[in-house]
This record gives sequence, structure tokens and C-alpha cells, in this order.
Amino acid sequence: MFDRWFNRTLNRTWGFIEDRAGIPKWALRPQPAFTFKPSYWTGAFVVTAFLYQVVSGLLLLLYYQPSVNPTYTACGQVAGQLSSSPAAWCSTSYIVNSLPMGSLLLSSHLYGSYAMIFLAIVHFYRGYYLGVYKAPREFSWMVGTLLMLTTLGMGFTGYILPYTQISYNATQVGLVLALRLPTFGTLLGPFILADGTGQGLLSRMFAAHVVLLPLALGALLYAHISLFEAHGIAPPASSDPVQRRRFTAKEDESGVPFWPHIFFYMTKWALLYLGLLFGIAALWPWQLPTYVGNTAAPQAVTEPDWYFLWLFKMVDFQGITPVLAIGITTAVILYVLLLPFLDRSPRTHPRDRPLFLFIGNSLMGFFILMTVWGGLTPGLAIPPDQVALRIAPIVAVNAVVVSWFYLRYRASYRARLEARERALRLPGIYAVAPAGRPSSAGRPTAAGAGGH
Ligand code: HEM
Repeated sequence: MFDRWFNRTLNRTWGFIEDRAGIPKWALRPQPAFTFKPSYWTGAFVVTAFLYQVVSGLLLLLYYQPSVNPTYTACGQVAGQLSSSPAAWCSTSYIVNSLPMGSLLLSSHLYGSYAMIFLAIVHFYRGYYLGVYKAPREFSWMVGTLLMLTTLGMGFTGYILPYTQISYNATQVGLVLALRLPTFGTLLGPFILADGTGQGLLSRMFAAHVVLLPLALGALLYAHISLFEAHGIAPPASSDPVQRRRFTAKEDESGVPFWPHIFFYMTKWALLYLGLLFGIAALWPWQLPTYVGNTAAPQAVTEPDWYFLWLFKMVDFQGITPVLAIGITTAVILYVLLLPFLDRSPRTHPRDRPLFLFIGNSLMGFFILMTVWGGLTPGLAIPPDQVALRIAPIVAVNAVVVSWFYLRYRASYRARLEARERALRLPGIYAVAPAGRPSSAGRPTAAGAGGH
């Protein structure tokens, strides 16, 4: 009721403004009304998180100094801190301890990065399970994979910027792994490591974090949204092998306009996101660990942010060398990138794709296990039997559950089909197809009867 009134008023008001001000129609295409659910806009949540990162990052840039030299004058003003600590750390300490609202700014930027990565994972898994990568959206999927890698790169390069001992150590381990990437590692090595000094590394990470990767992310996002515009939103997942995955021009015309309806719908969620982010950042502000080279502090553990814990834990496995770890990671990335060409079935419903359901679940189980494990025992060497003992149950339970669901679904699906076939074959009902009624030729086919 309220929605209808709200939409009508928006239509009238914006229609009036457009008409009188001569504003051209908003370029983004209209969307079907069924998309007014948050699950259809998981990507837009990621965009929201990204936009906040840009704004908060620009504000942080006003105070942050990317230098390892102890030249930040404001550092001495922070009670109890050594003015000999690196300027990168000092300026961060100044933001957190002395700048009005600085703690909120930095904490929300950090937690915002966690949220962006988490939301990107949700967006990815939604697309994975609902088969949105199938024709004609293969390129959207591939550009999305590159977006994910760039987002993780933003997290990696941002981690070292406060120049704390813990982030420095973790970045070193990360670099050992990254530089073993086939071809890319050799090419990127001299660029990332610069002259081999701490300053060289910090400067390169800073440049990548504030200029190169955001530009790459912006360009990829532009391509991603242009592709989304070209094909429209993916319709609900279906068992129908001849489902329509594109919208007609007529359907487009009857869709809900992006501006102002979808825009305001998303604004509502964006405000909720910001409220939650600020609330969490205010209640649990980030504490700055000690700086690189502080000999007075106890030895720092080597621990990355949560989204890289799985990779760090993998190197703790006895027998898994950095080359092997990076090989496994590359294989997973290639699997995701090429998924639209591996899963060729025309059906999109997860119940029709047991193999890909199994692989997706197994990967998710593996990442969760490794993340928790990495968080609980960072750096602790793990013998192969312990690895097998933990990973095997995940794969086994997953295999049993997926097979059970699939067989059960096949049984009920077949039973439904047979019941329908029997009903249509009852003697006398359609012996001669009456006018306007479907003849037996118009019966639902076995393949199409699964429906949505
Ligand atoms: C990391 C940053 C990403 C951003 C900012 C982003 C943004 C978006 C946006 C705004 C949309 C439009 C529909 C929606 O809001 O859900 C979208 C759709 C899409 N995204 Fe992403 N995305 C990202 C990552 C990914 C990843 C990692 C994948 C998969 C590997 C992916 C695959 C897709 C596909 C296939 C669509 C079309 C879905 C549909 O039509 O329902 N995206 N993305």
C-alpha cells in the first residue's frame, strides 16, 4: 500500500522534473518487479561498500604519510608514543588517537573492507548456486572474477600501510607466495619489491592501494555494470532446459525504471549498511598494534587478515610448499574464471547440477575450515594425517548430502512427470483435442515439466 503510494508519487515528481528540466532519461535499464528483493542486488551492496571505501580512503589520505622515516611531527603529541617510530605508523596512530572522529574513520574503513570482501563472496556464491554465469552472462562472470581478485589485492596492499610489525610480517609471507605465481610472479617481482628496502615496498604498496588498484577496480566495475545493462538481471534459477535468459524489449518497457525507483530502493539498503558499519566501528574500534622494528615490544605473530588465513594455513601443512600452495590457488581461480565453459548444462537450478553443487560446497567448507584453523593456530605446522582427518569428513558429508538430495529430487521429479503423463493419457479426455485445448502434442515435455 505504502509502496504503491511511494512509487506513484516518485513517478509523478520525477516525471515532472524530467519534463521541465529537459533531463534525458537515466541510462540504466528498467528491471522486472520481481527483482525488488535484496538477493537480486547483492552486487549493488558490494558497490555501496566500495563507494564508502573510496570516500573514507580519501579522507584518510589527508593525514596518512607513506614513509618509514620517523618524520611525522604530530607523532610526538600522542601521549606515550615514541617519536622515533615510522611516520606511516605515527600518522595512523595520530588518526586513531588524536584526530576527532579519526578512530571511527579508520575503523570503518577497515571493517568496510571486510564487509566489501564478505559481500563479494556472498555475491559470488549466489551467482554460483543459481547459475547466473550461463549464457549470455559468461563475460559478466569472468569480469566479476577479476573484480574479486582486484578487491583481494586492495585488502593485501592496504594491510601493510599502518606499518605494524604484524602486517609487515604477513605481507612478507604473502609476497613470497605471490611472487611464485606462474609468469605474473616473475613479472611483478621487481615492480613490487622495488629496491628491496622497507620504504621501497611501502611506497609500491601505497601506490597500488590508492591509485592503481582503485583505477583497475573502477574500470572493471564499469565493464561489469555495462554487461549487466546489456543482458539485464538473470531470471530466477530454473530446471527448464529451454528457459529464457534474456528479456524482450517489451518486457524492458514494462519494467520498473532504475531512476528513481530502484535507486531509492538501494539507497535504503545503503543507509542501513552505513548505520551498521558506523555502529560496529564505534562499539569495537580497531586497536593499532606495535610498529615495525619496535624491539621493546614482544615478538609479533605473523597473521594476515581473515580473508587470507586459508592460504597461510595451507603453507603450514607439511608437504605443501609455497609453489604447491600457489599452484592449488591458481587452479581454483582458473576453475572459477572458466566455470561458464565447464558447466554446459542449460538448466540453472542447483538441484540439476549436482557436480557443481558438490564442488561449490566443498570449496566453501574448505575455506571456512582453513580460515578458522588459521585463526586458531597461526604458523603451527600440521602433519598430513591431521589434514586428511579434517578435510575428508567435509568432502564425505557433502558428497552424501548432495547425492541424497539429487536422488530424492530425481525420484519426486520423475514421479511428478509420470503422474502428469498418466493424467493426460486417461481414456476419453483428450481423445480428440477440443478447440482451444492443447492436443497431446502440446503436453509439457519431460524436460520442461520441472518448472522453476
Ligand atoms: C567484487 C566486486 C563486485 C562488484 C562491485 C559487483 C557488482 C555487480 C553489480 C552491481 C551487479 C548487478 C546486479 C546486482 O546488483 O547483483 C552484478 C551482477 C553480476 N555479477 Fe558482480 N560484482 C562483483 C563481483 C563479482 C564476482 C566475484 C562475480 C563472479 C565471479 C560476479 C558476477 C556477476 C554476474 C554473473 C552478474 C549478473 C547477475 C545477474 O544478472 O543476476 N560479480 N555485479
